[in-house]
Amino acid sequence: MARRNKVTVVGAGNVGATAAHWIASKELADVVLVDIVEGVPQGKALDLAQAAPIDGFDVKLVGANSYEETAGSDVVIITAGLPRKPGMSRDDLLKTNSDIVGSVTDQVAKYSPDSFLIIVSNPLDAMAQVAFRRSGFPKNRVIGMAGVLDSARMRCFLAEALDVSVENVTAFVLGGHGDTMVPLPRYSTCAGIPVTELLPEDKLNKIIDRTANGGAEIVGLLKTGSAFYAPSLGAVEMTESILKDKKKILPCAVFLEGEYGINDLFVGVPVKLGRNGVEQIIEISLTNDERSALQKSAAAVQELVDVLGI
Ligand code: LAC
Repeated sequence: MARRNKVTVVGAGNVGATAAHWIASKELADVVLVDIVEGVPQGKALDLAQAAPIDGFDVKLVGANSYEETAGSDVVIITAGLPRKPGMSRDDLLKTNSDIVGSVTDQVAKYSPDSFLIIVSNPLDAMAQVAFRRSGFPKNRVIGMAGVLDSARMRCFLAEALDVSVENVTAFVLGGHGDTMVPLPRYSTCAGIPVTELLPEDKLNKIIDRTANGGAEIVGLLKTGSAFYAPSLGAVEMTESILKDKKKILPCAVFLEGEYGINDLFVGVPVKLGRNGVEQIIEISLTNDERSALQKSAAAVQELVDVLGI
């Protein structure tokens, strides 16, 4: 009998539960939803399972407070950790979330030693580094989700400014998932036309700024949590590209060893995601300004990694 794909989502908060929802509705894999809060992952998994007959998706959904049920997962999406509150930066979450992500990673590595890890917890790049070091997994199997979200935000704003379909717009964002991220209008297009040909510089600068502060804008509106629809779907697009071996080129946080002049650090760059995880890191040429913005962004990630001593 053919074996079905299995995805574990750790953290049954808004990001985790919504990721489970997208995975189920796309019929990508059976899902195990894990959280330390008793009843919540079980309740949300049961609720989703009861939506299956209405939408017609045939996947198994299970909630759990421990990791036995997760054994043999193909992909594990880690969303566990505290979200930001208004006024907090992602970096304010550093210590608490590194403890949480570290202990989650230990369990995941024990029960699913061959899985691909997709990290969503913040501060993103540093948490990917925690999961990489703690799991001992090879670097093609530990990937941080940030660029898909950040570039989706930029695509949304560009499509709005151009009054065109979001489907026509691609966008590129490099660097860490923080205020120093590097949106690249030169590599962003509308139906193949660079957006620098279509929008004046001041408008583009406003979009770049709004993209870099896209997470904070939503935290400011929600007040009690951070964004979850787009972040969870970003992780699911990466999961799908791996499970279906689609070989999509997506901006992801990966462990760099010399690419872009960056060493031993997770930073967002374009990669090819297929059944072997990170199958290629793509190095695009950058102007001096773009390169120094990327270096600055990497330095901000390095600072956090240094605090953690990883
Ligand atoms: C954001 C948070 C999740 O960018 O980092 O919305």
